[in-house]
Amino acid sequence: MLEFRRATDAVALADFFAAICANEDDRFFHPHPFTSDEAQRLCRYDGRDLYLVAIDGPRVVAYGLLRGWDAGYEVPSLGIAVHPAERGSGVARAFMHFLHTCARRNGSPRVRLKVYPTNTSALTLYQSLGYCFNEKTADGQLIGVLELNRHYRLQAG
Ligand SMILES: CC(C)(COP(=O)(O)OP(=O)(O)OC[C@H]1O[C@@H](n2cnc3c(N)ncnc32)[C@H](O)[C@@H]1OP(=O)(O)O)[C@@H](O)C(=O)NCCC(=O)NCCS
Repeated sequence: MLEFRRATDAVALADFFAAICANEDDRFFHPHPFTSDEAQRLCRYDGRDLYLVAIDGPRVVAYGLLRGWDAGYEVPSLGIAVHPAERGSGVARAFMHFLHTCARRNGSPRVRLKVYPTNTSALTLYQSLGYCFNEKTADGQLIGVLELNRHYRLQAG
């Protein structure tokens, strides 16, 4: 049974981080260190930002974050990674919708993210969800923005 929830099991999250690093996905996705200490910190965290997981029983299938609210931003930055053994089953798409709904319920008008242009699977996913890419970071990552406002979405058609 797949569930989306806050990350609370530091051991399971650290195992997930280890799988991400073993697959060298941290080349493309590096929002913070993928260490056991960081997993513990995130699982103890009690602020407004969201560190979330998709779990199946004890296993972390995917990890997602929305952060920036604690730092005073209205628009959070989104990040997502799916366990290498779980890719291609639609988890990322479902989790992205969940993350968007969380952001919207927290009052944010939009979300933003960064993606390397060579990260084809992530870029294709984000484009299919309606993200617009009009800016780049100094290190060449595309900055994507998704409007969460229903009125905007209806107008944009
Ligand atoms: C990007 C990532 C989250 C996608 O996870 P996933 O479980 O494979 O995604 P899903 O099965 O939910 O597929 C969703 C969409 O992603 C895109 N996608 C997934 N794999 C793809 C591939 N190999 N090539 C092109 N598009 C792909 C498609 O748009 C797909 O939709 P479709 O199945 O309707 O065609 C996953 O590859 C990952 O964790 N990568 C490493 C971490 C990372 O790069 N995160 C993003 C940092 S910006």
